[in-house]
Amino acid sequence: MIKKCLFPVAGYGTRFLPATKSMPKEMLPIVDKPLIQYGVEEAMLAGLTDLGFVNGRNKRAIPDHFDINYELEAEIAGSGKEEKLSTIREVMAACTFSYTRQNQMQGLGHAILCGRTLMGDQPFGVVLADDLCINDSGPLVMSQLVSLYKQFRCTIVAVQEVPESEVDKYGVIAGEALSDNLIRVTDMVEKPAPSEAPSNLAVIGRYVLTPDIFDIIENTEPGINGEVQLTDAILTQARQGCVIACKFEGERFDCGSVSGFVEATNTIYQKRLDRV
Ligand code: UTP
Repeated sequence: MIKKCLFPVAGYGTRFLPATKSMPKEMLPIVDKPLIQYGVEEAMLAGLTDLGFVNGRNKRAIPDHFDINYELEAEIAGSGKEEKLSTIREVMAACTFSYTRQNQMQGLGHAILCGRTLMGDQPFGVVLADDLCINDSGPLVMSQLVSLYKQFRCTIVAVQEVPESEVDKYGVIAGEALSDNLIRVTDMVEKPAPSEAPSNLAVIGRYVLTPDIFDIIENTEPGINGEVQLTDAILTQARQGCVIACKFEGERFDCGSVSGFVEATNTIYQKRLDRV
């Protein structure tokens, strides 16, 4: 059973400067909840309650968010405002939180490798909290990936069709279709030019990784942008064994970009209004 989930949160979030100058982008709120809490709730709903964070400098706000704020609790105790803390209290009661640091931002692959000490020798989920995922009609993406892991026992990635003009922002896969929504990965390219992309199926920020990924990352040369790319390491897994890509059910917002962030905010706010 998978119990662990890794959250790489050490990036600089330069697309949100100046907001992210002294605050992690993962703490930006969609309506009234920080991005990282949406990610943590998704992991918790998938049964992943042993949570590890690869943090960076200036990111104290994340460990503080998942801890008790005694002054605040005392101030609002017994008032109607306590209700506003119910969701964070729920995740704090259900999950454990561990932290390590990435002291040089050398890319996602490197960030995952920094999490080795927290994840150990077991398969684990990975959530990039700047991808916000929702699903009105069933389980969220991480739950979908965990179910697939139980079936295939290999690394599982979530993919989504994107416009051809946008493939250069993503890791892009190619492979053989196993069903309408499952593909056995045979190729994977990080940020390809549209003319060189093997498909328009882009990997989004949800994974289940098997622990051999760590040794593979250690032996992976820096790729595009001079960074150790997780995509290159997963391609090695696909060539040595098996990697499954899942066209997940639900919607995903790229909250690492300002336009995706605004779209997510409008969508979630509208859903709130529709509920009352
Ligand atoms: P991004 O590339 O989207 O994040 O990485 P970024 O670098 O912070 O954003 P911009 O482009 O400067 O605006 C995806 C995820 O990987 C983490 C980020 O925190 C984000 O959650 N990451 C990225 C790390 O933890 N370490 C890194 O070295 C790079």
